[in-house]
Amino acid sequence: ALERTLSIIKPDAVAKNVIGEIYTRFEKAGLKIVAAKMKQLTREEAEGFYAVHRERPFFGALVEFMISGPVMIQALEGDDAIARNRELMGATNPKDAAPGTIRADFADSIDANAVHGSDGPETAKNEIAYFFTEAELASR
Ligand code: CMP
Repeated sequence: ALERTLSIIKPDAVAKNVIGEIYTRFEKAGLKIVAAKMKQLTREEAEGFYAVHRERPFFGALVEFMISGPVMIQALEGDDAIARNRELMGATNPKDAAPGTIRADFADSIDANAVHGSDGPETAKNEIAYFFTEAELASR
């Protein structure tokens, strides 16, 4: 089915100057970028985005990392976009990520893991709305 998903290129991958290489992977997999913005997240924005993880032991480090530099945020659209993006990303921990995935190729650790992608239809809807207005989402 045609879906949209929220993708974030994290501060580590932005610092490595691989936004373009990651965008190429999206495009080659048939995912269209329908909205995008580069942004330095505030602490409040990062905490709100990851609110489901608030009680997890890694929450503090995750928030610190996500505000350590600018991120590139995009909404991707395509057939089965949520699962397709997750396949492109690879496992959360780059040590477990399959060869050729974004995390295997660009991530250094479970915290500095290059990209975020929505994990299901409900989260995708909420995460896209967290960063983009309806008017910012291009119809294409
Ligand atoms: P992400 O998909 O952005 O969602 C939450 C992030 O928390 C995850 O990627 C990881 O970068 C980070 N994280 C750190 N430790 C863990 C852990 N033990 N389990 C899951 N996520 C973790």
